[in-house]
Amino acid sequence: MPKRQIYSSCSDFLFSIFVTFVTVRTLCPNLPDSRKRKGYRVSTIFVARADLSSGEECFSSQLVRLMRTLLTEAELREGVIRLARQIESQYQGKTLTIVAVMTGSLVLLADLMRMIRLPLRVGVIQASSYRGGTVSGDLVTESEMLLNVCDHDVLLVDDIFDTGRTLDHLTQLLQTRGAKSVASAVLLHKLRKHEVTMRPDFSAFEIPDEFVVGYGLDFLDMFRNLPHLAVLDPTEIEAARKQAKS
Ligand code: IMP
Ligand code: MG
Repeated sequence: MPKRQIYSSCSDFLFSIFVTFVTVRTLCPNLPDSRKRKGYRVSTIFVARADLSSGEECFSSQLVRLMRTLLTEAELREGVIRLARQIESQYQGKTLTIVAVMTGSLVLLADLMRMIRLPLRVGVIQASSYRGGTVSGDLVTESEMLLNVCDHDVLLVDDIFDTGRTLDHLTQLLQTRGAKSVASAVLLHKLRKHEVTMRPDFSAFEIPDEFVVGYGLDFLDMFRNLPHLAVLDPTEIEAARKQAKS
């Protein structure tokens, strides 16, 4: 290769590295200066928006966040299959009624219910305790969409067992509605000090006490559509908190 051509491809290469660096710094202002937070990397999340002029869905905006993958799509799938098999063996010969806690368990419910080979009834209940971020607040429940649970074997399905207050409260609620039995299944069991004595009967993964997003779990209503589970960098959470205050 002639010398001049080698110089030109080297400078093209260096220029492309420079452009990538500037783009990432511009799109991701919260990136810590050291950029050395172990294991975290910049993820670009595409947000689907309807293109009203053409009537088609397109990817029109992006979010760039620092996060690190905790569980891959394949690992999540294996965990959900495990959960389904455990549930099946526990409820052999019975009809099971699933009550899924919205909105976090939406993705888990869709996958899990198709893997359970039992006669199945499915309903939902709404519960939320995260007010504007990552700190657990007052629990608000909405049971208008709840199906009849009287004399039925009920399995509460939620995304994560954190303080435990949601499942504890909903277990009691379903008991007062006359359920024959109430058990609970979660995808994730956060290893932290829980605020209640009950524990979920089935859980697919134990995870460290960090704030996670994806596979239905959100931060400020975003990231539920990530197919994997990721830990959001604490600097991102802090930045969003400051922004909300200002
Ligand atoms: P608990 O009542 O504290 O156990 O919290 C249960 C609810 O809080 C879950 O159903 C989730 O919606 C939410 N939650 C707890 N931890 C996380 C997390 O790390 N990321 C996203 N949502 C979470
Ligand atoms: Mg929830």
